[in-house]
Formats: sequence, structure tokens, C-alpha cells
Amino acid sequence: MSDQVAVTIAAGVSILRIDRADKQNALTSTMYDIMSDALAFGESSSRVRCFLIMGMPGVFCAGNDINELYSFAENGMVGESAIHFLKTLASLDKPLVAAVDGIAVGIGTTMLFHCDYVVASEWSTFSAPFADLGLTPEAGSSILAPRLMGHQRAFELFVLGEQFDAHRAYQAGFVNKIVPAEDVEAVAEEAAIAIAGNPPEAVRTALKLLRGDRLDLAQRIEKEATSFTELLRSPAALDALHAFIDRRR
Ligand code: COA
Repeated sequence: MSDQVAVTIAAGVSILRIDRADKQNALTSTMYDIMSDALAFGESSSRVRCFLIMGMPGVFCAGNDINELYSFAENGMVGESAIHFLKTLASLDKPLVAAVDGIAVGIGTTMLFHCDYVVASEWSTFSAPFADLGLTPEAGSSILAPRLMGHQRAFELFVLGEQFDAHRAYQAGFVNKIVPAEDVEAVAEEAAIAIAGNPPEAVRTALKLLRGDRLDLAQRIEKEATSFTELLRSPAALDALHAFIDRRR
């Protein structure tokens, strides 16, 4: 187990904690693999009835690791681990809860569209500045975001790169509950334990009905990954990623 994603199981809940706060919880391939494995294990284990994804106090996730993205672009590689993680998220049969405290950028925001219940602290912010980076939406978000919040607000998020605060995210429909920062994890955990305590067959069937046929989602993740990978090699994306890396140096 890596110290960058800690996985624990208790009271029917599998908790995936992203723990790379020194890099704002940016996700690397190794971290995606750990999360995919934990989700796959939980799906098949009778010990797990609900998943809970959380970051560290003060930071949820700053998106994909930009250094890794840059190296993928330079070497003509595809982010297979990220794509696999997203497909796993999009095919879960068990419920998914998230606890967000702090920034959620890129996939840190788009993974929330797959969640059934999201608790956020009042000062959390959500953004997916793909166009600013010369990139396009991923995670099936080109279907899920307009469905959730309408085309115009999805445009603000993905194309204008606007940052949503917790109240705007609540109004947009991808945050269920806003609580003080110090309560986020406890409230999310309480919800996850309550969900895990319900009869699993009823929860599973209700979720299946609510989520509907998700074949279009899996196909869209593929299509988005193709566009993302192509654009990642474009001068606009390379310049934007390089500017971030350079600024850090
Ligand atoms: N990938 C890799 N490293 C990242 C990162 C990312 N997505 N986001 C932050 N980091 C690293 C920084 O490089 C820095 O590392 P260093 O201390 O070794 O230099 C560390 O995390 C702290 O980040 P910093 O930028 O100093 O924090 P901040 O509070 O000033 O800003 C953010 C936080 C999230 C607004 C800013 O880091 C940011 O814009 N990150 C990029 C987010 C992004 O565009 N993600 C989408 C990718 S598709």
C-alpha cells in the first residue's frame, strides 16, 4: 500500500483517502491504480457496502499530476491508469460518497459527478479549467455535467474555466450538503455508514434504477480520452503545462 492513497475498510465502508497534500493531492498513475484496485476489491467483497473518497483536511484533489501529463504528452503516451480508474468509477454498482474540504480541480471535480452523495466544506472550490490548459473534459463529464446542471453552467465550468464555490456547486446539483470544514469527514462518514447499514439488495437495485443504462457513459469516457490525448500533444496544451511546471521551478 502506498502512503499516497490509504485504503481502510470499517463498518461496511471502504474509505479511499488521497494523501499527497504536499502536491495538493494531485493524482499520479500509481495513485489511480491503487484507487481502481480498491474499488474493484470493494465491488467484489461482502465486507464493503459503500465507498467513501476523501482528501486531506484543506485539500481534496488538484487534478491529474501535471508533471506526469507533460511527460505523457512528450512521449506520446496515453494515461491508461486514469482511464481505467474512470471506467471503474462509471461502472460501480455500490454507492459512492465523497468528502471535500478545499480545492477540487480537474478530475478532482469531475470524479464527483459519479458520486451519489457529496459533502463539502463551506470554503471548498470546484473547477475544471480544461480549455485554459488546451484540453477537454474527461470522466464522462461531457454527459454528466450538462445532465446535472444544464448546458450553460457546464460551459461556464469547462470552457470559461469558472471556479464554483460550495454554494454554486450545491445549486448546480453536485454537492448534497455543505458543512463547516471540521465536520466534513464525520458527516460524510456518518452518511456512508448509514447507507452501508441499509439492506444491500435494496440499495443496489435503487442505484441501478437511478443510474440507468451507463453504456453511453463508458463509450463517452473512451471518446473523451481520445480527444484529451490528442490535444495533450498540441502546442497550446504543452505550453500551458510547461508554464505551470516552469512557474514552480
Ligand atoms: N500536478 C502536480 N503538482 C501539483 C499540481 C498538479 N496538478 N497541483 C499542485 N501541485 C504541486 C505544486 O507544483 C507545488 O509543488 P512544489 O511545492 O514542489 O513546488 C505544490 O503542489 C503546492 O502547489 P501550489 O501551486 O504552491 O499551491 P497553491 O495553493 O498556490 O495553488 C492550486 C493550488 C491547486 C490552485 C495550484 O497548485 C494549481 O493550479 N494546480 C494545478 C491544478 C490543475 O490545473 N489541475 C488540472 C490538471 S488537468
